[in-house]
This record gives sequence, C-alpha cells and structure tokens, in this order.
Amino acid sequence: MSEYDVIIVGSGAAGLTAAIALADHCRVLVLAKGELTGGSTAWAQGGIAAVLDAGDTFENHIEDTMIAGGGLNRRETVEFVVENAPHAIERLVEMGVPFNKDAEALHLTREGGHSHRRIVHVDDATGWAVQAALLKTAEAHPNITLLPGQACIDLITGRHEERYSGSGRVWGVYALDEKTGKVRAHVGRATILASGGAGRVYQFSTAPRGATGDGIAMAWRAGARVSNMEMMQFHPTCLYNLDVKNFLITEAVRGEGGILKHPVTGHRYMPDYDARAELAPRDVVARANDDQIKRSGLDYVHLDISHQNPDFVAGHFPNIYEKLLTLGIDMTKQPIPVVPAQHYTCGGVLIDLDGRTDLPGLYAAGECTESGLHGANRLASNSLLECFVFGEAAAKHIIESWDQLAAPPAIRPWDASRVTDSDEEVVIKQNWTEIRRFMWNYVGIVRTTKRLERARHRIDMMTHEVEDYYGHFRVTTDLIELRNLLQCAELIVRSALHRKESRGLHYTLDYPDLLPQALDTVLVP
Ligand code: FAD
Ligand code: SIN
Repeated sequence: MSEYDVIIVGSGAAGLTAAIALADHCRVLVLAKGELTGGSTAWAQGGIAAVLDAGDTFENHIEDTMIAGGGLNRRETVEFVVENAPHAIERLVEMGVPFNKDAEALHLTREGGHSHRRIVHVDDATGWAVQAALLKTAEAHPNITLLPGQACIDLITGRHEERYSGSGRVWGVYALDEKTGKVRAHVGRATILASGGAGRVYQFSTAPRGATGDGIAMAWRAGARVSNMEMMQFHPTCLYNLDVKNFLITEAVRGEGGILKHPVTGHRYMPDYDARAELAPRDVVARANDDQIKRSGLDYVHLDISHQNPDFVAGHFPNIYEKLLTLGIDMTKQPIPVVPAQHYTCGGVLIDLDGRTDLPGLYAAGECTESGLHGANRLASNSLLECFVFGEAAAKHIIESWDQLAAPPAIRPWDASRVTDSDEEVVIKQNWTEIRRFMWNYVGIVRTTKRLERARHRIDMMTHEVEDYYGHFRVTTDLIELRNLLQCAELIVRSALHRKESRGLHYTLDYPDLLPQALDTVLVP
C-alpha cells in the first residue's frame, strides 16, 4: 500500500492543474495509465476559450455556451467557468505556455458557435504545449509524485477497509502496475478523478486509445451518480484516410474561412442547413456532414481552405499542413476529405462547483465529469478551460476542508487468490470490437428507439460474459478497459432511451421535437 495526502487519477489538464494547485499544501500522487502524455490534452488542437478582447464580454461567452448547450447548461456553472477563464490563461502564461501573439496581445482565433474571436492557441497544437508546461511545472515540485504505467481498477471505499464498513467514503484506488502485473492500493485523505472521456466506446473517434471512461465507470460502481451520458459530441471534421483513422482537422480551419463542399458537385451546403453556415455549433455541422454522406452514399465530404493565402494557411496550421503533406494532400491547393467522428464526452460524474462528487472524499474534474458547463453540446474550446477551472476548484476545496478530511484507515490488499491467467484473450478483442461497432451504428449521430433497444440487448448479453471473465482471470489493462467501456456503453444507451426529445447532441427520429423543459438525465446507481 502507498499513502499520500491526495491521490489523483490522470495526468492531463485537469489532473495536473489540481496537483500543482495542491502541492504547496500537501503530498500528491498522480497516477496515469500508460504514458503521462497519453490523454486527450496532448492532442488538443484549436485552443482555449477566454474573454480577452476589448469588444467581447463575459455575457457573450456565457450566451454562446448556453446556446450551443441547448439550454441544458447550469447557468451558475457557465458563469463560474467563463469568469475564471482569463485567470486560467494567466496561470498558463506564467507556466510558460507560448501562446501565439499579435504584437503584444494574445492572438485570438475563431471557432464554431463563438460570436467573437476568443480562442487563445499555440499554432494548431495547443494541447501539446499546455501538457508540456503543466508536466514541467509538476515535475519540478518536490511534493508531486508522478507515476505512469498504472491502470486504476476501482475506487477504495468502506467495503475495502480492514474493518469492513458499508460507507461510501473514498480512500483512493487499486491500480494495476502495467509493468509488473501487481495490483497495489494507493490511499489518501482525498481522491480526484481526472481520467478523461469515454470516446473509445465508438468505432470512429478522435480520442486517444485510453479514453475508455474508466473514471466514470469506477465512480458509478462505487455509488456516484452520472449525468447526461447520452450527450456524446461528434466532431464534424476528422480526416478521412484509410490508414490514419483519428486525425482531427481543427474547427479553427472553418473559423479562418474553410468551407464544406459536396465532393462531387462542389456545392457549398452548410447555408442550406443553418444561417451560421460553417460556423454553426458542432452538433449542427456534424449532422449536416452525416446527412450529406448518407444521402449521396459518399465516403466523405470536402473541407476547403485553398482559397485563402497559402502562406497564411501553412503558417496558421503548420502541424496539420505538414501531416497532410505526408499523406499527399496539400491543403493550400486542394480540399481535405473529412468525416464526422466521436470527439467529446459531455456527460459524466456529477459534480458541484467545488468539484465534489456524491461520495465523501471523492472529487472529479475535466472530461470525466458533468459539471453543468456543456449542457446538451459543448461549445468548442470550452473543455480545456473546464479542466483548469475545476482542477483548481477541487484543489481549493480540499485545502479549505483539510481539517475535516480524516486520515485513511487500514485497507485490505487486492485479492487475486481466486483468479488465474487468461487463456482466452480473444474474448477481450472480440467484445471490444463489437461494442465499438454497434455503438457507432446504433447509438451514433442520428438515433432511433429501435436501434437503441438493439444496442441495449447486446450490452445485456455481453455484460454477463465480461463479468464472468473478469471474475475468473487476472486483470490486465485491456480487461479493465473492456469492463469500463461496456459500463459506459450501458450508461449512454440507458440515458439515450430515457430522453424522449431531440436536444443538442441527442437527435432521435422518434422524438424529433424539443420538450418545453430542459432536464438533465441523472442516473442513480
Ligand atoms: P485527459 O487529458 O484525457 O487525461 C486523462 C488522464 O487519465 C490520462 O493521463 C490517462 O492516462 C488517465 N487515465 C485514464 N484512465 C485511467 C486509469 N484507469 N488509471 C489511471 N489513469 C487513467 N478541447 C479544447 O478545449 N480545445 C481544443 O482545441 C481541443 N482539441 C481537441 C482535439 C482532440 C483530437 C481531442 C481528442 C480533444 C480535444 N479537446 C479540445 C478536448 C480536450 O482535449 C479534452 O476534453 C481535455 O484535454 C480532457 O482533459 P482531462 O484532463 O479531463 O483528461
Ligand atoms: C478543434 O480544434 O476543433 C477542437 C476544439 C475542441 O474540441 O474544443
């Protein structure tokens, strides 16, 4: 067993922000599956939204966020995050993030759903720069221990205390050391889940391999409520390429003048769907692309920015430009073939403004949460922002309530006495592939009750098989992820079946209208 003051699951924007904010006060352990840079944070392209322009106001940013969110957002959360955005950017600048500048001021780009230019960025690879600066700061702090290669399995609660209690108090996590195969308990006075989204539940996703909803599933199993899991965001423009399956073409390409065209007729179709054309919120553009592809039996649509000055295009999007050149596409001269793909998990573990979950001692921040910021559809570049604001809020609450946070009791070690090594790893691969396929086909951009029922039926059947497998064989990262992926699929489908309307990202042909009242889908374990 290892003991620290605070245990953090995840080394992305949310986890490292919390760790850095806590470290002057207590000893922090940060656990990460695979490498420390393995989360979505490092992959973020477009940037971070903040009101920094003289012509812009907090009220504008709040309104844009609420409009994109289909009215399902909690206004107090939106205000809290938007008003804290300039401070978050200031902290990042202090940590050395080299944001692009226009003379002395930060350069602001534009993205869909934003009424003003308000996205700070580092070229088209903002996430990598942010991840690097946070890691450098965390590594330099003597109170922060960073431990990669640890796949957390479950939260430790009263059930795992040496002197059993039925309490839902969280004391830390059991984690599999991916090198040694040993499972260890890591305990502390408080635990923060910052484990990212569940995008890999879909066959096509821009998210990295480890986005399997582990934190959401762990919190659910331990007794925390989850909310709005049907609100899965699909990005309209993921590169279509048979070899490179999940390369994002940032929304900022449309922000800087890129237009969407039918690849055969060359028709610019977005004005037919929405007056905001290419700059409509993501759910609208993704549905339009999906419609064009299905209607004409296409493999992809075209995103074209070749009418802009070539130096501007190559200079503004250097990473995308270079990547596409290696694939034989010169975006300064020709259109880019794109398709929609899963991109962001708007739902998650329910938290309050202090990052507190339902379970005493358990906090959460970032993409694994449902804070009320995004509602039925996340506004572009609001999610890194949410990580910074809630990472800091959770840390602040832990520091302020330190005297009420008890030291952890003795915890039982992980019991592996009744399991053996698997001789049927094929079961994992088969189930993993199956889940991702039926989620894409039955629980995608456009849904029907019949398709959702089909998905639910498959999930029921697979749950018995996966639980049986989990009960008999030694855990591996693949098995942990499969169990969590299936749990998240179940939560998504259950939530989608519950919502009898079309709102934001949840669009169903059986209930195409909006109900008069915007209500969260809150699932209680
Ligand atoms: P992540 O950065 O995903 O980190 C999750 C961490 O949890 C990782 O360290 C992972 O190893 C760890 N973890 C997960 N499970 C376990 C486990 N079982 N045990 C131990 N550790 C675990 N948002 C914006 O605002 N602007 C953008 O421009 C933008 N661009 C994007 C581009 C792409 C391609 C993608 C995929 C997303 C983009 N997003 C963007 C969304 C944004 O990047 C994410 O929402 C955000 O980075 C999530 O940060 P996080 O800290 O919550 O989780
Ligand atoms: C993008 O760059 O298009 C992604 C921005 C985001 O996900 O917020």
